Amino acid sequence: MNIAARVLLCSALLLSATAGAQTRPAERGKQLFDHWCSACHKPLGEFVSSVPGTTALQNKYKGAIPAALEQRNDLKPDYVRLIIRQGILSMPFFRKTELSDDDVAAIGAYLARP
Ligand code: HEC
Repeated sequence: MNIAARVLLCSALLLSATAGAQTRPAERGKQLFDHWCSACHKPLGEFVSSVPGTTALQNKYKGAIPAALEQRNDLKPDYVRLIIRQGILSMPFFRKTELSDDDVAAIGAYLARP
């Protein structure tokens, strides 16, 4: 394959990747959540008796709402963005070099999905 064909192929691949990200933000949000958040926010279960985020939210809400973020239906993208950028108590904030604004929006869309 000559150089021009390679460049064309690369841009086509890049374009389809961005198109995918734009049409399915919640799906991308799930991948990002699994990578950046689930270590602290996964649901507790048989083999998981405590993770910092879920355990702290369990203590905070005392079961009034689910402690695992993915099981909640009251989260709004704006609130999720605020927490991601500022952190809260023992939760660290995330820089734009770690999670871009698009990434944060995708995570917000994922957590706020119906
Ligand atoms: C190092 C562990 C850790 C990581 C990583 C982490 N969190 Fe948290 N998160 C926490 C803790 C602990 C709290 C609870 C703080 C408190 O007691 O109010 C929290 C709270 C939150 C809340 C507030 C929930 C509420 O009801 O007020 C949101 C939203 C949240 N995290 C989203 C995220 C997202 C999205 C990510 C990934 C980008 C993430 N967190 C990564 C530890 C973490």
